Amino acid sequence: MTDTPVDLTTSETGRVLRDVLGPLVAQGAIVRRPAVTAWAERRQVDRRARRLLRELRDRYDGAPLVVRLGARRLVLAVHPEHVERILDGSPDPYTPASWEKRGALAHFQPDGVLISSTADRRTRRPFNEALLDMRQPVHADGDTFTAVVDREARDLADGVERSGRLDWDTFAAAWWRAVRTLVLGSSARDDEHLSALLDALRRDGNWSWFRPRRPWLQAGLERRIAEHVAVAEPGTLAARGRDVGGADAVRGQIPHWLFAFDAAGAATFRALAVASARPEVRERIVTELATSGRGPSVLPYGRGCVLEAVRLWPTTLAVLRDTTREVRWGTRAFPAGTGFVVLSAFFHRDGDRLAFADAFEPEAWLDGRADADWGIVPFSAGPVSCPGRNVVLLVASHALARLATLDLTVSRGRYLADDPLPCTVDHLGLRFGFRSGALARGDVGVARARAA
Ligand code: HEM
Repeated sequence: MTDTPVDLTTSETGRVLRDVLGPLVAQGAIVRRPAVTAWAERRQVDRRARRLLRELRDRYDGAPLVVRLGARRLVLAVHPEHVERILDGSPDPYTPASWEKRGALAHFQPDGVLISSTADRRTRRPFNEALLDMRQPVHADGDTFTAVVDREARDLADGVERSGRLDWDTFAAAWWRAVRTLVLGSSARDDEHLSALLDALRRDGNWSWFRPRRPWLQAGLERRIAEHVAVAEPGTLAARGRDVGGADAVRGQIPHWLFAFDAAGAATFRALAVASARPEVRERIVTELATSGRGPSVLPYGRGCVLEAVRLWPTTLAVLRDTTREVRWGTRAFPAGTGFVVLSAFFHRDGDRLAFADAFEPEAWLDGRADADWGIVPFSAGPVSCPGRNVVLLVASHALARLATLDLTVSRGRYLADDPLPCTVDHLGLRFGFRSGALARGDVGVARARAA
């Protein structure tokens, strides 16, 4: 293996554009485009991308791959050692505020920590870490969060029992009610207009610098957030932020939190799909909830399932960095402003290195194998890793466990029932049917009574 990056030829660059970067951009980096994600699943685009990157890694003896796109130069990592160097070296000399991300995220979260200058990051990063209780498996307001999730999941489950169906739109409506409540308080629970504004701006974000800003929409979003922050009740992230750093400081971070909960919903829905296709997985999830006691308990297996969903089908398609100054790799130097890219879907399913690459293996998170591997980075890693990870795992594992108590069938069941799992799964296209209700929902109560 060599760590001196190698320039790809014109034809190799064309193939990387066609099979790797093109599908990634087309699906929508900031908000997914349903028609394209459906196409991506039919084509299993991640399998093609993976095949090509493996071929290039072998051809160039493991050297990072340099792709030139006009004036822009992107260096693609192909080994975990490269990932470690880039992510551990963040935010300086590898800033997360890359050119593409600044263009995309400034549409709706210009003050978010992710695209902040190094100076602003010094206050915004610790602020995020503190408010999100980054290092605690259970957030200080975890009891409120799980109570909100329980309530919305119960309503959703009742609806599924009545209709006999569950699709993404139905799930997402309930998910966003829960998210708006735990982030902004009960005044925001039904504020679908706020979510619509954010969605419109996220769609602009998909086009990064190539779509003009719509300041009036952004102002509308900020106004609504400010109104909710002003009245948010204790137990919400907004109230905590308002009390710790002031209303202005927390308002600037909220668009990112709301946006990022979309990924948590996708992971929950995919994990539910696997659980519905695998009785033994579902049973373990339900039993864990039943025996865990009330409140915001840690559900290690449920968390492992959510983590597997983001490992197998990463929601952050590429982790991007720009260099803040010249960096040397092997015998080459790269100037400030060079892009470095970690393609999560490639690393997470690297069959050359991982015995469980295409398997559903929550145990890999329980025994530490996954976290120890620099190639497995669904929440990124190093000093710029996701400070929301534990909040996500708490909320998503409880939502998953509640919904797994329903006896569901899933439309992609035969592909999800066994390993190897498909490389691309379009969560927007997942559809569930309802087998029977009595079984599991009753069982949770019974098991809980037994455990008590
Ligand atoms: C499944 C759900 C989520 C996944 C997979 C995820 C993943 C990530 C990743 C990969 C990054 C680094 C991005 C980069 O370096 O370009 C990140 C950053 C971040 N995430 Fe998450 N995230 C999720 C949900 C959340 C939630 C719900 C919150 C807040 C409540 C959150 C808060 C943040 C923040 C504030 C950053 C920026 C950190 C910084 O710039 O220092 N995330 N997340």
